[in-house]
Order: sequence, then structure tokens, then C-alpha cells
Amino acid sequence: MRTVSILGSTGSVGRSTLAVVDAFPDDLRVVGLAAGANIELLAAQVKKYRPELVSVRTDSDVPKLRAVIGDAVAIVSGSKGASDVASMPSANAVIAAIVGAAGIPPVYAALRAGKRVGIANKEVLVAAGDVMTSTAREHGGEILPVDSEHNAVHQAIRCGTHQEIQRIILTASGGPFLRRELDTFDEISIEAALAHPTWKMGSKISIDSATMMNKGLEVIEAHHLFSLPADRIDILIHPQSIVHSMVEYIDGSIIAQLSTTDMKFPIQYALLYPERVQAPFARLDLAKIRTLDFLPVDPRRFPAVELAYEACRTGGSMPAVLNAANEIAVERFLAGELSFPAIVEIVSRVLERHAGKVAPIASVEDALEWDRWARNEARGTDVAVSR
Ligand SMILES: NC(=O)c1ccc[n+]([C@@H]2O[C@H](COP(=O)([O-])OP(=O)(O)OC[C@H]3O[C@@H](n4cnc5c(N)ncnc54)[C@H](OP(=O)(O)O)[C@@H]3O)[C@@H](O)[C@H]2O)c1
Repeated sequence: MRTVSILGSTGSVGRSTLAVVDAFPDDLRVVGLAAGANIELLAAQVKKYRPELVSVRTDSDVPKLRAVIGDAVAIVSGSKGASDVASMPSANAVIAAIVGAAGIPPVYAALRAGKRVGIANKEVLVAAGDVMTSTAREHGGEILPVDSEHNAVHQAIRCGTHQEIQRIILTASGGPFLRRELDTFDEISIEAALAHPTWKMGSKISIDSATMMNKGLEVIEAHHLFSLPADRIDILIHPQSIVHSMVEYIDGSIIAQLSTTDMKFPIQYALLYPERVQAPFARLDLAKIRTLDFLPVDPRRFPAVELAYEACRTGGSMPAVLNAANEIAVERFLAGELSFPAIVEIVSRVLERHAGKVAPIASVEDALEWDRWARNEARGTDVAVSR
């Protein structure tokens, strides 16, 4: 029996994780839940899964949750509370599915406690990848990718050695604006940007997929997870989202991983690895799909991708700054303050301002300090394309 703490249990990946727990009642048990502000859903999850410890985002939410669930379960709060859930002694695995840099302290706590961390929360690796991988090494923690692309690569690299890898090819759906006229990007509405063609996800990653910043963040994530430089991590647009990613070996063979667009597959893999178990989820029927398309990324349509490559090549604090500026720009777009093209424009300006300041990230505190700096810069930046 594997015991699991879920960070971000009320979100899209968190809910898929609970569906995986439901599917494997003899193998998986929930011991900790951490969420943000959705107290109603969290209370229902507590009643159903009976964890030992629950965390909410703010102190003021503690009595609200207590009023619904009573005294049976301990409730903690804030970043410290999420870190307590991540490092609780009775959990042997953690699914990290909080959105954004808010996940940095709890993921660090989990790795310091030697847990297996199934990581969906890519922003943690983007902002503090070296700290997380070295912490895992030092404390016996383990990082398994839940992001479907990296999970695919994790499966494909089991076919060869690190020296035999030529490159990684991350696939990308291209999002909702793959074929939209470029001169109409200024008019893109929030609803249109949230309408992802193949995946149903939280709002931040949906916007990141529309700008393709998501794929840029994934390049940095892959760099940390698989110890490869940015120039050996390529991106191919694959609108059907069936091939989740590929590894090309030096002999020219390419190994790909395919499944339906369902996060339960990578979550189940990360929780039960190295075992493969009989899964009850809907299978892929390639005869029905018939066609798989691939095309290169157009840098004029998706300028975020090159920004992320550049940040990855520069390293140090640059990726943390890219991530934080993007989080704020996306937040401002979702609040109706910015046009769609302004998201990437703001990130670009903050990166330019950071160019002479790049510093090493040797600790979580370093990452959080540059994260704060970039958030302030992105909040204070206005661009001509603002609404
Ligand atoms: N969705 C996908 O299919 C998918 C695929 C690959 C990777 N990912 C990555 O997985 C992560 C989660 O994505 P998602 O789509 O599941 O996002 P989501 O639906 O927006 O869920 C985010 C979760 O994080 C919680 N949360 C937010 N801020 C928090 C804080 N400060 N403290 C504690 N909890 C907090 C939210 O709680 P409340 O809702 O209660 O406020 C919610 O449970 C992201 O990093 C994303 O890039 C997602």
C-alpha cells in the first residue's frame, strides 16, 4: 500500500489524482490533502478520504473548514501548512499539483523528507530546478514527472542510457490559436484563450498553453529532469495530443509514448512506478484516430518559446524571473487588464531588465527572492498593447 499526500487536491490534477486513488483502492491511500480556497470541495474530499492532515491557504479558512468537517482531522494553513502535509511521516508519495511558485516550499519540504514526489507543478522546477534535484539526491527523495510530456520521456528513456540520447522531442498541441490570423491576436478574449482544444486544465496552464509559454516552461523542466542542455530539447507541434513526447537515440531510433489525453495515465505511472498495473481507464484506439500530424513551432506566433529557451541557456535566476513575470502577466490577463499579446511582451521586458542582474540560485530563499522581484516588476510594467 502506498500512502499519498496531494498538494492542490481541489485542482484539475488533484482531482485526477483522487480518481486514480479510487481506481486502485488496494494500492493507494490518501493521508494528506492541501488546497487553496475551495473549502467546499476540500471538505467533501476530507469526508470521503479521511486524511490525517489537511491544509488550507489562509488562517481565516481554518474555522470555515472546521465548521464542516468537525474535529476528526488536524487542519493547518499557509505555506508552512502545505509543507507539513508534503513532509508528513506517514506519506510515502506526494503529488505536487499546486499551481505556480507557491509550490516551491512544499515540494522542497517533501524532497528534504525523502519522499517520492510526482511533480505536475512545473513552475517549481523552472524556478528552483537545481535546488530540487540536489535536495532529492542528498535526502533520498525521488522526482517523477507527472506532466504528460515529461512522463512520456521518463518512459522512453527506459529504452537506452543517458549517453545514447541524441535529443528529447517535446510535443505541443499548439493550443487554441495555432491557426488563428496573427493580426487578430489583439482581440483574443479570456474565454477563447481558456478554451484548450485537447486538454481540460486549470486556468493558468490553459493560458500558458495558448501563448505556448507552457512548452517553454517544459523545456526548462526537461533540462532539470533529464540533465540535458536546452539545445538538445526540441519541440514539435502535434495537434492531436496523442504522442506525449519522444526520445531520439544516437542510432536514429525514436521512442514515443502514446495514450489518450487523460492525466490519470501519468499520475498512475508516477504513483506506482516501477510497477505497471492493469488500468481501468479508457484506452487509445489508433484506428479511430487514424492521423497524427506534426509541424514545427512558428516563432512569430509563439514568441514565448524563444524567451524560455534563452532563459534556460542563461540559467541562474533568469528562469525564476521568467516564471514569476509570466504568472503575474497571466493573472493580469485573466483580470481583464491586459491584451493577450501583452502577456509575453511583459515577460520579455522583465527579462530584459533582469539581464544585468542574473545571480545563482543556490537555495529556495534565492529562488523566492527573485520570484518576488520579478512579480513586482511585472505588476508595474505597462505595455502599449494593454487594453
Ligand atoms: N491540468 C493539467 O492537466 C496539467 C497537466 C500538466 C501539468 N499541470 C501542472 O499542474 C499544476 C496544477 O495545474 P492544474 O491545472 O491542476 O491547476 P488548477 O486546476 O488551477 O489547480 C491548482 C490547485 O492548487 C491549489 N492552490 C493554488 N494556490 C495555492 C496555494 N497558495 N496554496 C495551496 N494550494 C494552492 C488550488 O486550490 P483551490 O482551487 O482550492 O484554490 C488547486 O487545488 C500546474 O503547475 C500545471 O502547470 C497541469
